[in-house]
Amino acid sequence: MPLTDDGRIDLGAAEEMLTDEHRVVAFAHVSNVLGSILDAKQAAEMAHDKGALLLLDGCQAVPRLPVDVAAIGADFYAFSAHKLYGPTGIGCLWARSELLNALPPWQGGGAMIDSVSFERTTFADPPARFEAGTPHIVGAIGLHAAVNWVEKLGLDAIHAHECALVTETRAALSSIPGVTLYGPEDSAGIVSFNVDGVHPHDTATILDDAGVAVRAGHHCAQPLMRWLGVEATARASFAAHSDSSDIEALVRGIEEVKRIFG
Ligand SMILES: Cc1ncc(COP(=O)(O)O)c(C=O)c1O
Repeated sequence: MPLTDDGRIDLGAAEEMLTDEHRVVAFAHVSNVLGSILDAKQAAEMAHDKGALLLLDGCQAVPRLPVDVAAIGADFYAFSAHKLYGPTGIGCLWARSELLNALPPWQGGGAMIDSVSFERTTFADPPARFEAGTPHIVGAIGLHAAVNWVEKLGLDAIHAHECALVTETRAALSSIPGVTLYGPEDSAGIVSFNVDGVHPHDTATILDDAGVAVRAGHHCAQPLMRWLGVEATARASFAAHSDSSDIEALVRGIEEVKRIFG
């Protein structure tokens, strides 16, 4: 989908691309590269106007924004536990119940049948129909604990905290000559950047030595890298436990990158 100059999904342009043949429209609710927040409600209206369903990838949204799938009007909403301070290897797909009821199983295994005979097999009601085999029990308990932890802190509070850190980071990094920032000013929890003339993998390695963990690469979004006109970016990601000392360490690390690369 086309983007606005500051890196948001351009829903106006997206609408013009949709035809009646599109069945499912899928967006990231929050971009994992730029932190741009989608106007999810508008996206739902746009998809529905064309008779399509809306699927949102909420991996980056659920740890930092209060999400109300009904208010958005989403049809499907997916997220991974590991982005929500939870364990790896488990996530959620939420969907409106009439859609789940209409969907066939995608995998066979234990605990997903209703009755089996040579003539006819019927499957359990959702969600069991989609949870074939012995589940990731420990992961589910861990995810539940993560959800409780985030809810106790409050997503509004986490979002406000991260917004303040992003604003502080963007101000600090824009004052360093030779650092390019990507994404909108109000990026949710993420600041993507590059140091001129330095590959982000080198930036990340030097930052790592300085005790600062950033992600570097194309972030599984190569078309977006092409749109930005770069091979890759470095990405600082904030969370509930981040604070200004992390930003100071990042700035010191970037100064070291510049010193090493001259
Ligand atoms: C927006 C987004 N979608 C999907 C994923 C991938 O999730 P998983 O590793 O659980 O497949 C990520 C990052 O991990 C992400 O940021």
